[in-house]
Amino acid sequence: MLRILAARSEVLVERAAALAAGPVVVATAAVRAGLLLIAQRTRPPALAGRWELPGGRVEPGESEPDAVVRECREELATQVRVTGRLGTDLPIDAGVLRVHTAELASGAPEPQALEHAAVRWAGPDELAEVDWVDADRAVVADLVALLRSG
Ligand code: CDP
Repeated sequence: MLRILAARSEVLVERAAALAAGPVVVATAAVRAGLLLIAQRTRPPALAGRWELPGGRVEPGESEPDAVVRECREELATQVRVTGRLGTDLPIDAGVLRVHTAELASGAPEPQALEHAAVRWAGPDELAEVDWVDADRAVVADLVALLRSG
């Protein structure tokens, strides 16, 4: 009984922490042949033209990897397989941003810019020069290391 109560209170503490941090936004670090998929935003006006890792808000009841797969399907018309996490939680206005690493599923279509101005594959030497949105710039060193490790 005590163990059940302890487990329940742990779940409640986790939920309270999640609520305090606000909604989770996932971002996808999709890697292929040593290159990273990056996407150029169209909105809001302050962010239009700047580049990001594709992603979006996790829906209620949805796991983060499922949200990554859904966002890539909706925004890029492709299919990814989530392979891990990158970096720490990044505070953003909308809540918290968590980067997940991914690869294109075998036979997946080439990503298309359905909701972005453009998408492209970038190499490790280019990443420092990209005009990133603020939160994503914080993981550039991790992204370079990720590309170089493969
Ligand atoms: O369309 P949805 O609301 O699901 O997602 P979004 O508008 O693309 O992203 C929600 C928030 O997360 C916005 O404030 C984005 O600027 C931010 N974001 C970010 O900072 N970096 C990313 N790679 C993706 C989203």
